[in-house]
Amino acid sequence: MKPSKAPAIDDLRRLYKARVPRMFYEYCETGSFTTQTFQENTKAFSKFKLRQRVAVNIDGRSLKTKMVGQDVAMPIALAPVGSAGMQHADGEILACRAAQKLGVPFTLSTMSICSIEEVAKHCDKPFWFQLYVMRDRSFATDLVNRAKAAKCSALVLTLDLQILAQRHFDVKNGLSSPPKLTLPNVLNMITKPAWCLEMLGTTNRQFGNIIGHAKDVKDLSSLNEWANSQFDQTLDWNSVDFIRKQWSGKLILKGINDVEDAKIAAKLGADAIIVSNHGGRQLDGGPSTIEMLAPIVDAVGDKVEVHIDSGIRTGIDVMKAMALGAKGTYIGRAYIYGLGAAGEAGVTRALEILRKELDTTMALCGETDIRKVGRHNLLGFDVAAKSRSSKR
Ligand code: GLV
Repeated sequence: MKPSKAPAIDDLRRLYKARVPRMFYEYCETGSFTTQTFQENTKAFSKFKLRQRVAVNIDGRSLKTKMVGQDVAMPIALAPVGSAGMQHADGEILACRAAQKLGVPFTLSTMSICSIEEVAKHCDKPFWFQLYVMRDRSFATDLVNRAKAAKCSALVLTLDLQILAQRHFDVKNGLSSPPKLTLPNVLNMITKPAWCLEMLGTTNRQFGNIIGHAKDVKDLSSLNEWANSQFDQTLDWNSVDFIRKQWSGKLILKGINDVEDAKIAAKLGADAIIVSNHGGRQLDGGPSTIEMLAPIVDAVGDKVEVHIDSGIRTGIDVMKAMALGAKGTYIGRAYIYGLGAAGEAGVTRALEILRKELDTTMALCGETDIRKVGRHNLLGFDVAAKSRSSKR
């Protein structure tokens, strides 16, 4: 099947699996430790049921809305994903271009292969930058300044990765960028000739934001060891304030999955928070994000924009998140499948699939404007109906 004809995200995943070296597929397609939270992130969406409404004029629908004040063609941004440039040569540039053509935000990870400057050079419009705070705070300041110089239009500060939770596959595969040339890795790469050829055709093969910028880092032979030694374990709410003071643009706090944390984040004056458990890659044993969304929206939704990631694979998932009160959603794996399968065309296809699913689902719920979707679209959440029936 051609990626451009793939009917669903899972078809892109199968094509991706066949094309990309196993170590990068497994890096993407796993969670931490027992993978319980990783699995629940997707499954938990089925706990929420949409209301089917009929005989409503559903002509002239619109998915347009705003995320942190910026116009978006639909409420789906590309999440920051580490090593995307290993899933496909120049992956971050290709994903950013696809996102910009479809009118949605692209977020570049600190742990990207293509650097901030490289992505800015090859893409027309501003993108968002995700920041990991390292022990060397001057390096964090430097990254913020580089994001400003590249005219990034939002800073996404990740709060849930001061320590890296173990993903067993990465340990077994000795994950590094570029890949370590162990016998199993080489044997597997021989079966992925298109990927290898494309990689040989680019110079972007190492962590572009780090190598040559962070002091004394010449190469990252083990990503896991490096992250665990360099990421700042002292990062606390005061540190968030330290970053806030350096960045006057839109600030999005990522990695909040608890009501108390959401309240603190809202007080700090962030423009948005992302209800996230890092795609089930960090705390294992915690709740799915879709289950935490309503309590968090209820606690802070009038003070800060609430976004969500982790587990979104369909437009139906996006519709449920919007109905629960999210103002925007992010996809990580869902676009990486497309990227690995077919580069820019694959990311475009992933976004088209989600757009169609979201539009059709919204229509079948009897809605024509994504901004008007709400709890009334969910069974068991119809607040108005509940108060009407209690008055009877
Ligand atoms: C990094 O963000 C990871 O989840 O691997």
